[in-house]
Amino acid sequence: MTLLVALTWDPKPWVERFRSHLSGRDIVVLGEDFDRARVRYVATWGPKPGSLSNLPSLEAIFSLGAGVDHLMGYPDLPDVPIVRVSQDDLTYRMSEYVVMHCLMYLRDQRRFDADQQAKRWEPDRAPPIAAQVRVGVMGFGALGQDAARKLKVMGFDVAGWSRTPKSVDGFEIFSGEAGLEQFLARTDILVSLLPLTSETRGILKRDLFKKLARDGHLGGPILINAGRGGSQVEADILACLDDGTLKGATLDVFEVEPLPQESKLWNHPRVTVTPHNSATSDPEMTARYIAHQILRHEAAGEPFQHVVDRGRGY
Ligand code: NAP
Ligand code: GLV
Repeated sequence: MTLLVALTWDPKPWVERFRSHLSGRDIVVLGEDFDRARVRYVATWGPKPGSLSNLPSLEAIFSLGAGVDHLMGYPDLPDVPIVRVSQDDLTYRMSEYVVMHCLMYLRDQRRFDADQQAKRWEPDRAPPIAAQVRVGVMGFGALGQDAARKLKVMGFDVAGWSRTPKSVDGFEIFSGEAGLEQFLARTDILVSLLPLTSETRGILKRDLFKKLARDGHLGGPILINAGRGGSQVEADILACLDDGTLKGATLDVFEVEPLPQESKLWNHPRVTVTPHNSATSDPEMTARYIAHQILRHEAAGEPFQHVVDRGRGY
């Protein structure tokens, strides 16, 4: 069998890891000469038009990340299972990011960074404790639930919002349009871990920010978006920060990536920017995850895990 690696970045470390976990198999890279009729699997991120066509033996497409919006718009996407990454290594990285940024807001860390720069000693009054801060996690799937559990360990008052109703022990979960207002009204820190779909595009906008709680202990609502940049309206975020609708924002993802030099987000005093690396796919762990899926499928005809529902778009 052949695994085709089709990436927008340097494929070398990936090819090495796939070779070590799928020994004896052909691992080929887009751009090289290879027999398209032998390709049974593709491992990809942002495939170029044409790269997935004319692969008559294709059995599955593996996204090298948790999100699959990079595939959903692909013209003539082959009708085979699309498998996304859903494994502990990536999930735990995201939870670390979310917990860290929630704690930074809880403890007003940016103020103390500025105080240190200015050699200012102002112990001030005690900050709130986590139990006094309500975190709302939008997108209560693999990433949202793990982050929520870890935020809860720190003491935060956490609720979730998902597309469909669900019950997860220990959490109040709101769902759909019907549950959105109530969810926002009890949220001081809004964490978005939503996939990008036609329903979630542009959802993080002024109308939504206006509905966040204004009676919390942080002096105004906070936005943390580590889902997808297409879900946020950056002009609204900037305007809402400037008129007090939002107190602060931490953004890992952007409408355009890399974030353009001229974006006002770079220098805004109440914005934290990270370069879409809150939960990077580690080549070793991801190749191992994909190889495991291929080997169990070939040995025992096991179905692939974490297959995307194309109708939903995630
Ligand atoms: P997942 O397990 O599929 O969970 C997605 C969650 O979003 C589910 O709870 C789903 O609701 C909810 N959702 C989807 N559409 C919705 C809508 N219209 N309204 C309300 N809720 C909606 O996905 P995951 O593994 O947690 O990953 C989530 C996303 O994180 C990825 O798609 C990707 O975009 C992003 N991500 C970013 C990074 C990064 O480095 N920044 C890294 C990894 C992933 P249901 O439970 O009802 O289905
Ligand atoms: C990264 O953004 C991912 O979807 O895994």
